Amino acid sequence: MISKGINIDPAEGKLGVVIPGMGAVTSTFIAGVLAIRKGLAKPIGSLTQMGTIRLGKRTDNRIPMIKDFLPLAELEDIVFGGWDIFSDDMYTASVKAGVLEKTLLDQIRPEMEAIKPWAAAFDKAYVKKLDGTHVKKGANKMELAEQVMEDIRNFQKVNNLKRTVMVWIGSTEIFLKPSAVHATLESFEKGMRDNDPGIAPSMIYAYAALKLGVPYANGAPNLTVDVPALLELAKKNNVPICGKDFKTGQTLMKTILAPGLKARMLGLNGWFSTNILGNRDGEVLDDPESFKTKEESKLSVLEHILQPQLYPELYSNYSHLVRINYYPPRGDAKEGWDNIDLFGWLGYPMQIKVDFLCRDSILAAPLVLDLVILLDLAQRCGMGGIQEWLSFYFKSPMVAEGLYPEHDLFIQLIKLKNTMRHLKGEEMITHLGLEYYD
Ligand SMILES: NC(=O)c1ccc[n+]([C@@H]2O[C@H](COP(=O)([O-])OP(=O)(O)OC[C@H]3O[C@@H](n4cnc5c(N)ncnc54)[C@H](O)[C@@H]3O)[C@@H](O)[C@H]2O)c1
Repeated sequence: MISKGINIDPAEGKLGVVIPGMGAVTSTFIAGVLAIRKGLAKPIGSLTQMGTIRLGKRTDNRIPMIKDFLPLAELEDIVFGGWDIFSDDMYTASVKAGVLEKTLLDQIRPEMEAIKPWAAAFDKAYVKKLDGTHVKKGANKMELAEQVMEDIRNFQKVNNLKRTVMVWIGSTEIFLKPSAVHATLESFEKGMRDNDPGIAPSMIYAYAALKLGVPYANGAPNLTVDVPALLELAKKNNVPICGKDFKTGQTLMKTILAPGLKARMLGLNGWFSTNILGNRDGEVLDDPESFKTKEESKLSVLEHILQPQLYPELYSNYSHLVRINYYPPRGDAKEGWDNIDLFGWLGYPMQIKVDFLCRDSILAAPLVLDLVILLDLAQRCGMGGIQEWLSFYFKSPMVAEGLYPEHDLFIQLIKLKNTMRHLKGEEMITHLGLEYYD
């Protein structure tokens, strides 16, 4: 199928990225972009910077880099800003996070020191393990949202920004379910003025972004924009949104392995996943209410990939457990173990053990870069509302009401690349390939 292609506005001028939550992932992302700009490192893990896209037939030999194929923002044009409850500049935050070596950080020190968080819209009731003093004061949540909007407007003005994107990289908040206050934009705005407890700080930032027409990505499993009121606002202002929860370590491996087992019709008795993690994220997740939000996000993937309703003999009775233990000595260098109990021909049992010695922020940083760049592209293409084609980056992809999310990493990648082809009026790739044998 060939589409006509979309009229894409050019990526002219500076692109601002505003980030609520300037901890380990954010400082690693910013340091990375600065280092790459200086030629000190390569953008490894970033599809927009390192990936290619095949166009036309296999025999055509047209395989440009994605960044040459699409009019994407240049790394040189990105300007960084954000909020945190701690006032540490990005150099200090990065040293404290302990992800990157000082030898690298010292080469970008002045630029990192110049990025200082604005005071946060924060409430300890939603992140029990954190206490901070660098916070905004306001009579109600609407006033806080107005202050956030003011920060964004100032940032746009001072840096002469043409476009801006927001990515939430703040902590995981307590588990919230959609309720009456989230039902319509009207009830939500009333709730903001009445300080309704159903409105978490992350929603205040999202509301501010959408009001200003700033695209929004949710890197945490928080409910945030996944409620009718904010979907309504995103549609009304035609702003692209996506989320939730970056798919980085253990869940990335799960959505690589599970589709493979299912493809071969191998059955599953159980999947036990456990992690030790010693960064601030691990500390926040040590609170049962924040962990519940993360657990829901991590548990959902297998069910959708394995489809037990279609394959009851293979997948109806498996146990799926996810544990995260806060273990300070490991810092950001997380270890995730998976024990998979599977069965094959005639029901014979087998096991797979995965021990992923990963680095949380190193895996997350390139996803932040891609999301900034692709959300900006989506906006220049006039695409508002949920961007399902960006499911590739998330543990709990946002989808239209009534649809189940697609979790299989490879289907997500095909969807993402076909959307890119569609935007440029190129042929969709179906992998049928019969024409080569005519
Ligand atoms: N691989 C990964 O690292 C990964 C993967 C998926 C999701 N995430 C999520 O990304 C988020 C950030 O992870 P991290 O490792 O950088 O954690 P971090 O604790 O180092 O950073 C989070 C920062 O958010 C700040 N914060 C909390 N509430 C805030 C608010 N209301 N306003 C402004 N700032 C606020 C905290 O003070 C902290 O500095 C977490 O929610 C985590 O669960 C990370």
